[in-house]
Amino acid sequence: MTLPTTQNTLHHLLPQAPTHENSLAQDVMQGLSQSPKKLSSKFFYDAKGSQLFQQIMQLPEYYLTKLEHQILDRQRKEILFAFGTQTPFQLVDLGAGDAYKTKLLLAELVATQAQVQYVPVDISEDQLNLLLEDLHHRWPHLPVTALAAEYFQGLEWLNLHLRQRKLVLFLGSNIGNFDLPEAKEFLCTLRQSLHPHDALLVGLDLRKDPEKMRRAYADAAGVTSAFNLNLLHRINKELKANFDLDQFQHFAEYDPLEGTMRSFLISKTAQEVTIEALDQTFQFEAWEAIHTENSYKFSLRQVEEMARDCGFQVQDVFTDTSHGFADVLLRPV
Ligand code: AVI
Repeated sequence: MTLPTTQNTLHHLLPQAPTHENSLAQDVMQGLSQSPKKLSSKFFYDAKGSQLFQQIMQLPEYYLTKLEHQILDRQRKEILFAFGTQTPFQLVDLGAGDAYKTKLLLAELVATQAQVQYVPVDISEDQLNLLLEDLHHRWPHLPVTALAAEYFQGLEWLNLHLRQRKLVLFLGSNIGNFDLPEAKEFLCTLRQSLHPHDALLVGLDLRKDPEKMRRAYADAAGVTSAFNLNLLHRINKELKANFDLDQFQHFAEYDPLEGTMRSFLISKTAQEVTIEALDQTFQFEAWEAIHTENSYKFSLRQVEEMARDCGFQVQDVFTDTSHGFADVLLRPV
């Protein structure tokens, strides 16, 4: 008997236009008016930026993806066993992207005939359409409901429309791009969307040799530099600005006291930049920095504390063989 192939769906939950509070214009206006200057890393990911990030993940220096891939590849059975896959559930993937690592878990779930519905959540509808096509090709019987949504919007929608037991994935150390208080707020808000039998698997980059971390954010081929500079290119395009990309340079440094990798764009000369859409001109001194990203590196003790403060307990910690990266399974208490 051949099984019928599943009808996979995509729901678009994003507002048609970004609200004023989270628009690029608002972020640029605020960020370049303050001292030190600042731009938000969430605006890295236009089509070009997403493509550059895919390239970063392939770089020899960018160890994060390789270490997490190793964890999910070697310990997928243990991870799924710890969650419990005997009863039906949804695998909710926040910021799914191309689901490169999640496919390791999906392969295992399909092989063991688990009753799972895969729910990738991403703000890029294009990315989700590509993923749906790829998944349909690989596993035509796997039910997939894709949500083009912000993370919490996606979880709210799930709680209203498809209430089932959930394993939520937040992989790739994406949580490290928040400031610590924001990361905690994120975990606490996520906790409110979860029920007693749900769980969260969160991927975290752990503290390690600072030189190794620095190289991951200042690669020899210059891809991370292009990724950072693309933010200025995006502002030129979308807000009619005249940033001269050759007059800015990428710089990344690790602060071992705070455990933060910080990325900057540094103005090589004294210069003026005009942004037509904002009707503003901004002055840059020679060697003045714009802070563009934090990539936080965690200690396991910190994660435990943060999880506990939000009403989670650590059920299991899965690390790679070098203990450089962890996927931590959290349960609501
Ligand atoms: C998406 N995020 C976890 C990446 C990171 O490592 O902070 C983004 C990135 N920035 C520079 N390289 C990669």
